[in-house]
Amino acid sequence: MSPPRANAYRDRWCGAVDASCEGEQVRVAGWVHRRRDHGGLIFIDLRDKSGLLQLVFHPDRFGEAHEQAHSLRSEDVISVSGEVARRLSENINPNIATGQIEIVVSECRQLADAQTPPFQVDDDGPVDELLRLRHRVIDLRRQGLRDALILRHEVVRTMREELNARGFLEVETPILTRSTPEGARDFLVASRLTPGAFYALPQSPQLFKQLLVMGGIERYFQIARCFRDEDLRADRQPEFTQLDIELAFVEEEDVIELTEAVMASVFVAAEAKGIASPPWPRLSYDEAIARFGSDRPDMRFGLEIVDLGAAVAGSQFQVFSRALEGDGTVRAINAGQRELARKDLDILTEQAQRNGAKGLVWAFVQEDGSLRSPIAKFLSDQIVEAIKDALGAAPGDLLFAVADAPEVAASVLGELRLELSRRFELTAGAQHQLLWVTDFPMFDWNEDEKRWDALHHPFTSPTGSFDDPARLRSRAYDLVFDGTEIGGGSIRINQREVQAQVLELLGMDGDEAQSRFGFLLDALQYGAPPHGGIALGVDRIVALLAGRESIRDVIAFPKTASGSDPLTGAPAPVSPRQLKELGLKTEALATPAPKTDQPS
Ligand code: AMO
Ligand code: AMP
Repeated sequence: MSPPRANAYRDRWCGAVDASCEGEQVRVAGWVHRRRDHGGLIFIDLRDKSGLLQLVFHPDRFGEAHEQAHSLRSEDVISVSGEVARRLSENINPNIATGQIEIVVSECRQLADAQTPPFQVDDDGPVDELLRLRHRVIDLRRQGLRDALILRHEVVRTMREELNARGFLEVETPILTRSTPEGARDFLVASRLTPGAFYALPQSPQLFKQLLVMGGIERYFQIARCFRDEDLRADRQPEFTQLDIELAFVEEEDVIELTEAVMASVFVAAEAKGIASPPWPRLSYDEAIARFGSDRPDMRFGLEIVDLGAAVAGSQFQVFSRALEGDGTVRAINAGQRELARKDLDILTEQAQRNGAKGLVWAFVQEDGSLRSPIAKFLSDQIVEAIKDALGAAPGDLLFAVADAPEVAASVLGELRLELSRRFELTAGAQHQLLWVTDFPMFDWNEDEKRWDALHHPFTSPTGSFDDPARLRSRAYDLVFDGTEIGGGSIRINQREVQAQVLELLGMDGDEAQSRFGFLLDALQYGAPPHGGIALGVDRIVALLAGRESIRDVIAFPKTASGSDPLTGAPAPVSPRQLKELGLKTEALATPAPKTDQPS
């Protein structure tokens, strides 16, 4: 770190003053981090962006400065000058970089006064999140948030450098635009100049990056802000940041390899431990669902899902036999050697039911090989053996089974796996796991609206025949990190007819498709090269690397779970005059967000 330009406030960074500076006269500035009054001597830990430095005020040597120090409180802002001196050996602090020395302050100037902060800056312990968000200025001074923002900077800087070195051009795309469907609701902005018309904020730069590539910007990237009005969670914010990438003349392999190279450098820059070098394993969507009940499987632990259809065929237990007679399946996991009380098994059953299951069968394998389970009496010895065989079960193992439609059985057991991993801390100390999920279905049937939905987005290139949309696959790929989707992309459609066909399956007739996506359909007629790309979720990547539960902890000014900002009070009502200018009337008068609004 180069020294600051010397001025009236400082000529050094606090963190850069060390034993080699002994005897030098220095000037430093910052915040009073901590103050200790030893009757005679006063010690202050001064904090600036670089770290902490101990100041000592002598009553007899520099009376005026000492007098000043008397009245200083935490978070006051000061500039001091003095001589660098070695600490007495009993005062040496091996925990901080500047722990061997202190500044004997000869002159002290208070630059600003601070009230008692709503929570302590010098302690990184837990503080109510709403309080932290409301007083983000104070929170930003604490080590935890500062470290996260520094890591975030390193991650983004590395992304830029890696792509720049590979000939990518960083291009900005509009924020005021038309809807770019990524499966969420749009945020709308009313137009004053065209009353009654609205801009949409981009859910991603998807269409613009395709247009850029068609326009000859063959390698594009952007650190792009995206906006999605959806239900928020720990890993979802209404505005978030993507590393957005698009390339011309590529196939899946090219995008995957590029992403692996960029991400591997990010992991090095972040000094991340326990991450295997690429290439990372790949799993087809079908296999991920069958084995882990999720399209973003957490593979840091086993507990794989097993099909019990063959094992329980012909069983007396009607729940199983009925499922197998219809289109259903019976699937199970072996949770291993676990003890769970009846009440916990009931809780797991209720959770399974909330996730859509009709019930959850549990069974303990006993010493003699028989099962202790509510359904044991329905199972012949032969079926019990077949079940144990299929699940590789040994005495002491706890087994779970669900009979249902394949999607339901998969997702219920997928959730159960995660719940068991939380209960039994199965990921503690595990290596990180990166993997690609590929070969997604192109469409999902939307029963409510009686039409198909694109699983990735409607610009993804399908493979297979349009005669059977349910079986069409897409050329999409997702990158999964410890069970979180950190990126997704695809090879795109580059032929107008195919694009029109997809839009039609989504329920858009020719006119609607032309009115919403005419600019894309037109561009596809003027020589669109094969192209594809990916977007990586920067907030999620930084949160995972920083070991934070929520992406709010790696965003300088995030929103709460209800989409509000306790700092500025956004969203807020606007004046009747503003509404009138926009030609808008509101039905309900918005009330300011309640003070009890909980982030989570
Ligand atoms: P997708 O919708 O999969 O793809 O988004 C890419 C990545 O962005 C992150 N992400 C989010 N992070 C925080 N809060 C959110 N609300 C949120 N939503 C998504 C995830 C996700 O993997 N245009 C396509 C990319 C492409 O096809 O190239 C897209 O946006 O980590
Ligand atoms: P019942 O005969 O409905 O009382 O169910 C007996 C046991 O089977 C209970 O433990 C239920 O939770 C469980 N069960 C019921 N339906 C299913 C199902 N579809 N899949 C798995 N377990 C089930």
